[in-house]
Amino acid sequence: MLFDLNVKERREDFFNYDKELELLKRAMNDDITRMIVIKGIRRIGKSSLIRVALNELKIPYVLIDARLLGVASVEDLLSALATALTDAIKKFDFFRKLRSVLTRVSGIGVAGLSVIISGKKLSVFAEFINLLNEFAEKETKRVVMVFDEAQDLRMIRGFEKVLAHVYDYCKNVKIVIAGSEVGVLDRLLGKNNPKAPLYGRAYLEIPMNRLDAESSKEFLRRGFEQLGVKVDDKDLNEAVAKLDGIIGWLTFYGYYRYHYGHEEALRRAVSEGTSIVRRELENFLSIRRQARRRYLTIIKLLREPLSWSEIKRGLELELGMKIHQQQISRYLRELVDYGFLEKHGNLYKLADPLLYEAVKSLK
Ligand SMILES: Nc1ncnc2c1ncn2[C@@H]1O[C@H](COP(=O)(O)OP(=O)(O)O)[C@@H](O)[C@H]1O
Ligand SMILES: [Mg+2]
Repeated sequence: MLFDLNVKERREDFFNYDKELELLKRAMNDDITRMIVIKGIRRIGKSSLIRVALNELKIPYVLIDARLLGVASVEDLLSALATALTDAIKKFDFFRKLRSVLTRVSGIGVAGLSVIISGKKLSVFAEFINLLNEFAEKETKRVVMVFDEAQDLRMIRGFEKVLAHVYDYCKNVKIVIAGSEVGVLDRLLGKNNPKAPLYGRAYLEIPMNRLDAESSKEFLRRGFEQLGVKVDDKDLNEAVAKLDGIIGWLTFYGYYRYHYGHEEALRRAVSEGTSIVRRELENFLSIRRQARRRYLTIIKLLREPLSWSEIKRGLELELGMKIHQQQISRYLRELVDYGFLEKHGNLYKLADPLLYEAVKSLK
């Protein structure tokens, strides 16, 4: 079902993105690619892309979704690893076999089919991957380690070093990294920073973009066909104009449209989406309290794409004070890095139309 709200796992539920899927599958399955990085704003379908590819290839994998960790700490990472391994044991023979040697890593235990991690250091994680690599050498030669929403893992001290170690020495473990906060992800990857552990290591980058208006409508049409719902072209146009080719929001609309009329479905998709976006923005602002009003004002100004100087002018007018150029640049860089804004040519624009709705009620 195209309008299933869960992360998609099966090809038949996954619309378009054929090129990205083929690229990912090929790179997951070859002997040369060490690391794959999937970038794109939130709800564009990164997690679904990864799941579908893994499902098609049937390569054993461990998947850690850092978004679920909250503020990432080593303990959180290890507990996510335990969950991911328990999951993997259910799915793959490879991991059932690995289970019997897992306890060689001190701090890792097994109880029946469950994995329990009592260790509290990052070294448990590093040792586990070494073991995984050795084991894969004897078995499948290939296992995939996925870090979804990986930018959050930057907060764990030493994590980047472990990743660089895996990259260099654990050749049977392929690394897949996905993230919505594209600039923050770049910091994790050490882009332009020779001091960063991962600096200079080659990877395949797979960018994911919005659907264009025609494909967005096609997605909705096909979804409604599956459900046997007849929908006017005019309604589709309106939904697509409002939700802007972000497949996650279109899925929301389709899902609600099955239960309600057009107006109500669109209202629900927008209002639910808006509250999700608002939470994400609040999260970003919570550690930038002093500049809160400035960030909010910038987003409010961006009803339409604006240049750097237009934003500066608008912000100063709104706040009634001069603001230093470097500060403006920093605000904009942060908003871009965290995936709230995009820069096209010399214009800044909101990455998600619901962001504008989200800030309306914020002060
Ligand atoms: N290609 C696709 N076809 C159908 N639905 C999709 C597709 N990609 C994503 N979705 C839906 O959109 C929503 C967001 O997808 P997800 O993979 O979680 O995005 P991301 O990881 O980029 O935030 C989910 O409800 C998912 O079911
Ligand atoms: Mg995701």
